[in-house]
Amino acid sequence: MEVNILCIGAGYVGGPGMAVLAQKCPHCRVTVVDIDAKRIAAWNSDSLPIYEPGLEEIVLQTRGRNLFFSTAIERGIRENDIIFVSVNAPTKTFGVGAGMAADLHYWEKTARQILKHSQSPKIVIEKSTLPVKTALAMERILKGVGSGINFEVLSNPEFMAEGTAIKDLEYPERVLIGSRETESGLKARDTLVEIYLTWVPREKILTSNIWSSELSKLVANAFLAQRISSINAISALCEKTEADVGEVAKAVGMDSRIGPKFLQASVGFGGSCFKKDILNLVYLCRHYSLEEVAAYWESVVRINEYQQERFILNMLQAMFNTLSGKKICLLGFAFKANTGDTRESPAIFIARRLLEEKAEIVISDPHALTNARCDMEGVEGRISYEGNPYDALRGCHAIAVLTEWEQYRSLDFQNIFEGMVKPAFIFDGRNILDHQRCFDIGFNVYPVGKPPLTHF
Ligand SMILES: NC(=O)c1ccc[n+]([C@@H]2O[C@H](COP(=O)([O-])OP(=O)(O)OC[C@H]3O[C@@H](n4cnc5c(N)ncnc54)[C@H](O)[C@@H]3O)[C@@H](O)[C@H]2O)c1
Repeated sequence: MEVNILCIGAGYVGGPGMAVLAQKCPHCRVTVVDIDAKRIAAWNSDSLPIYEPGLEEIVLQTRGRNLFFSTAIERGIRENDIIFVSVNAPTKTFGVGAGMAADLHYWEKTARQILKHSQSPKIVIEKSTLPVKTALAMERILKGVGSGINFEVLSNPEFMAEGTAIKDLEYPERVLIGSRETESGLKARDTLVEIYLTWVPREKILTSNIWSSELSKLVANAFLAQRISSINAISALCEKTEADVGEVAKAVGMDSRIGPKFLQASVGFGGSCFKKDILNLVYLCRHYSLEEVAAYWESVVRINEYQQERFILNMLQAMFNTLSGKKICLLGFAFKANTGDTRESPAIFIARRLLEEKAEIVISDPHALTNARCDMEGVEGRISYEGNPYDALRGCHAIAVLTEWEQYRSLDFQNIFEGMVKPAFIFDGRNILDHQRCFDIGFNVYPVGKPPLTHF
């Protein structure tokens, strides 16, 4: 029997998520809709709107077979009984909770649209990351007017990470499905479990109550970000004490209770989720008068901001307390490797701060230059964009490595050094380069959380 599935929101989650679902479940007909007609046109073109390793191949296999991208939202709602919702819920920029709480207006709009256009029972699945208890609001909208149609709301948060999205979706470490514990809630849950069972082993599919599911996603992101801020806080101490954060992380991470992953000191975390989701958690804690808990999690975001500011101050100090008129190349603009996504990328902050110091910046990235141009639109200063790192670096005073792209490790630094202004500096915000070798070539090298290697 063909299963008809709709996904509202064709972004970084909806696009790859539904492409993999369509690939794994040939018996499902999957339609992805969005209000953004340009984004849908891009999904239907040869140039997909997002870069993710392996995504294009899957879209080419499935598009037009059992995967469809469309702007016909109302029709999509009418014709499909299982509806994933993966619209964005950014941090609110206005009114109560501005800068902290989730802006749920896209979410509520979608709920009302589903209510208005439904003619048959629907299972509505939260894929977006949302504050705990959002499903209750969704239920109240869907069930409040007595339309006579049964709606079941499930929570099925997405745990994939950009850059490894396809692998994460094909082989998830877990799939979490939260439901109401009523007869109809459990039945809806089982329908979704059945779909995932096509490619996910049973033991990796967790079921829970709906609030635990909603909260688990916020907590997972908060824990991940917390590890980054923890090692970054220690990197500041390492810089004062001649300890090496890499050595410390290795020694600490070999304790199996701690583990080695996510202990890489850097210029700080970015991405559309970590900051937004922690602030969301902080806001929820304050809402429930848990001030100490709120302050604890808020400090994870503060340390991240501190780390970025520290990076700039280190640059300034190392380059004789003036960056004015100096040409600095940002190697990497994406918030992490293997994605073109620049949302909340530390590179945005670093670029702006360098321009405030009247430096000239050259931005280089293999996949994020289009987004970088949008991010820097309207920002005053001398900015240029160059995909080829060798061209980008010619005539520069300094290199700031801001994304851990694999190809940066194997650049010909001898050749680069020869084309740069001397003394030449490297600020390795990701600790990915061979620092000793760069130093031997002649660079002054400033890693994060390690003693600098300088010729002065
Ligand atoms: N990006 C990630 O790595 C990631 C991972 C896990 C979870 N999430 C969560 O998933 C959600 C979506 O994230 P994303 O990165 O895909 O966001 P995104 O901004 O890339 O995509 C959201 C899409 O929803 C569309 N949209 C908004 N309102 C709509 C409406 N009323 N009808 C139809 N379309 C509408 C937007 O046009 C946009 O294309 C967020 O809650 C996010 O926190 C993201």
